[in-house]
This record gives sequence, C-alpha cells and structure tokens, in this order.
Amino acid sequence: MTLLQIMPEDAPETVQLRTEDLDVIREKLLRIGVRFERWHATHRLPAGADDSTIMRAYRSHIAHTRTEGGYGFVDIVHMGPTPAHPDRPRKTRAARKKFLAEHFHDDDVVRFFVTGTGCFYLHVAGRVHAVVCTAGDLLSVPSRTVHWFDMGERPDFTAIRFFQKEDGWVCRFLPDSISARFPTLDDLLVTT
Ligand SMILES: [Fe+2]
Repeated sequence: MTLLQIMPEDAPETVQLRTEDLDVIREKLLRIGVRFERWHATHRLPAGADDSTIMRAYRSHIAHTRTEGGYGFVDIVHMGPTPAHPDRPRKTRAARKKFLAEHFHDDDVVRFFVTGTGCFYLHVAGRVHAVVCTAGDLLSVPSRTVHWFDMGERPDFTAIRFFQKEDGWVCRFLPDSISARFPTLDDLLVTT
C-alpha cells in the first residue's frame, strides 16, 4: 500500500491529510518539489531475482532517470530476512536506527522500490510528509531536503538507488531530530 500522511512539524498527532490516492500523492509531493512515479517492469520478475535481472526489467526507466538527473551511480540495496545469518537481526536493527534520525544528503534521494515497503518522512515548510512506498514506487527528493527513513520493525525491501556522486548516500545529521515524536512505519500501517 502506498500512502501519504501529512502532519504539522509541531503536532505529530494532527493528521492534515491521509491518502492512498496516487494522483493526490503525486500532486501533493510535487508542491514540495518531490517527484513520485509508478514504474512497471518489462517482464514479470521472479521472487529473489538477482541484481542484473532487476536492472534488465527496469532498463528503460533506469536509463531515462540516469540521463535526466545526471546520476552516474546506480545500485541495488536489499534489506530483509534473507540471507539467514546469526548477525543479520542486529545489523538490520542498526541500519534501521541510523536512518531514523533526521538528516539530509548533498545528493538527491532517488529510490525505486522493487519489492517491500519503506517510509520516507520529508520535513519541509513546517510539515512532515510521511510517504509509505511499496513495490513499483519511485520517489525523487531534491538534495539537502531534511528527512528520515523507517524500514519498519521487520525490514524487508529491495530498492534501486541513484546517485550523482559515489558518496551521495552520506548522511548529515541534524542536532535536534524531531523524528521520534512521529508515527513509525508500523504505526502508520496499523491505523488503516
Ligand atoms: Fe536519507
């Protein structure tokens, strides 16, 4: 389920808008300079598809996005219960915690969800836009936009990432993060 929930930065309990309407989501995000798109694979992807199969399935979308945004670096990130490894839960928890704090990047945040779910919280113009992304969603956020990301209590997603710089993923954290006051991804999903 793709979802947008908008809350004032100083009143997380006040829901100004909550919608699953993709056209409304697209329009509301455009107002803050964020692009939302839906992509379709050229062929059905098998479960557990490897990176080259994923890249092939979205080849034309990827090529277009790279050219349009000048993204010289593209990779695929997998976050989930596999591969089974004793250290996996600890590492996954640490990864979730890191991105839960408010931060920004010098590069754009351009992510396409191949599978699974994650929530970007965009802190712009006095409001927080929580965008729950699912398979088929592309989110393109301008550089230096303050945000945080929740992959949930049981992280499970595969995403294609685009960068202009090789170190474009480096986070610049804010000293007074407001993120802990806001509903988590799991909170957002249970209140449907
Ligand atoms: Fe980020």
